[in-house]
Amino acid sequence: MPVSVLIGAQWGDEGKGKIIDVLAGDADVVARYQGGNNAGHTVIVGGKKYVLHLIPSGIHSERTTCVIGNGVVMNPVQLLVEFDGLLDQGIDISDRFEISSRVHLVFSYHCAIDSMREGALGDDLIGTTKRGIGPAYADKVNRVGLRGADMLKPEKFARLFRQNCEAANKILVANGAAALDVEAELKEATAAAARLAPFVKDTAVSLNKAVRENRNVLLEGAQGVWLDIDHGTYPFVTSSNTGVGGACSGVGIAPMHIQRVIGVLKAYTTRVGSGPFPTELFDKTGEDIQRIGHEFGATTGRPRRAGWLDAVATSYAVMTNGITELTVTKMDVLDTFEEIKICTAYELDGKTIKEVPADIEDLENVKPVYETLAGWQEPTNHCREWSDLPVNAQRYLKRVEELVGAPVKIVSVGPDRAETFKVR
Ligand code: GTP
Repeated sequence: MPVSVLIGAQWGDEGKGKIIDVLAGDADVVARYQGGNNAGHTVIVGGKKYVLHLIPSGIHSERTTCVIGNGVVMNPVQLLVEFDGLLDQGIDISDRFEISSRVHLVFSYHCAIDSMREGALGDDLIGTTKRGIGPAYADKVNRVGLRGADMLKPEKFARLFRQNCEAANKILVANGAAALDVEAELKEATAAAARLAPFVKDTAVSLNKAVRENRNVLLEGAQGVWLDIDHGTYPFVTSSNTGVGGACSGVGIAPMHIQRVIGVLKAYTTRVGSGPFPTELFDKTGEDIQRIGHEFGATTGRPRRAGWLDAVATSYAVMTNGITELTVTKMDVLDTFEEIKICTAYELDGKTIKEVPADIEDLENVKPVYETLAGWQEPTNHCREWSDLPVNAQRYLKRVEELVGAPVKIVSVGPDRAETFKVR
């Protein structure tokens, strides 16, 4: 059975959590491949809400093994908060949970450095979640990071932790921030590592075994492709490869096994934090989308900027990730609008372009060229198949397919798992 990858086709918050939860019913394994607890997947089942930051969204399916792949940066203390929170909600995944021995670890000193750097950037701030994700990836690239396997060797763990925490303290103090208490931080980290050690294994081996045994493997992306460190709106991006390339390296599965790439696309666009956003709306329509769509971050509570769907950037996402199918979420949020727009091109310095400029200033200066479609102005959350959708909603989705070059296979019309249907 080919491996499936699910990625956010915009700037994150597309509703991936819900869709993975829906797909996980058929999955034997769900593996996270990048990012850390800066992600916030919301899963609502039977009216009960679960917000996951690190644990893959396969928690509700008892047959599904949940894997944290090597490409993730994992905060052991925060992971346990999430793990224990699930136990309190009656979900125990301890017999179907694996952590890669190659995963990089995030500690309080990474978070302190993140906050210090973001504070120093003033108006140029990147808008990170201050969860230490960037500094942990920097340690990985600088080859000084601690990894899953180090949690199995307490003495080595303590030695590396002290070295790194002391180095971070020097940077913090030099920048006018308070130093951390190394031994207190080590104590907390060691306790978390001891509890998580039983879950650590070579997940590349277990995942490839699952592939060989023809089991259904789903790789779960966090954030979205426009936040990809290479293909996103650099420097306003996250520190990892959020797209399909990150999926291969982030779990250790070869590209030839991946035949299904599901791009999750909100019916409109939102963006948290700073950075260019060509279709952003600053008027009442933008406020309406934000209000009706409850566009406030699951991790930080920050309001999300809102605007129309951008087919230029989405086509780029389809191209660079080989997206084979789209899932369109939050269709219901557009139910009341008289007109709905799609950005089909950009104008830059008097020229019409259909590519996404790499230069951030150019991208900030592009003017969206819109095509206007009639809204459907009736509720969609009762729809359970394509023919239930109002004709104008069908037209909208058909036009999105044409413009971005990928078929819509799943439509989501509300936050609950039941408010989802397959198209063909
Ligand atoms: P990141 O990985 O952090 O980008 O998160 P995500 O893509 O999993 O998105 P998240 O779950 O944080 O945000 C989506 C929000 O929209 C959640 O509150 C969902 O419950 C909700 N949601 C998902 N699908 C729909 C839908 O079709 N309609 C409505 N109204 N809400 C939805």
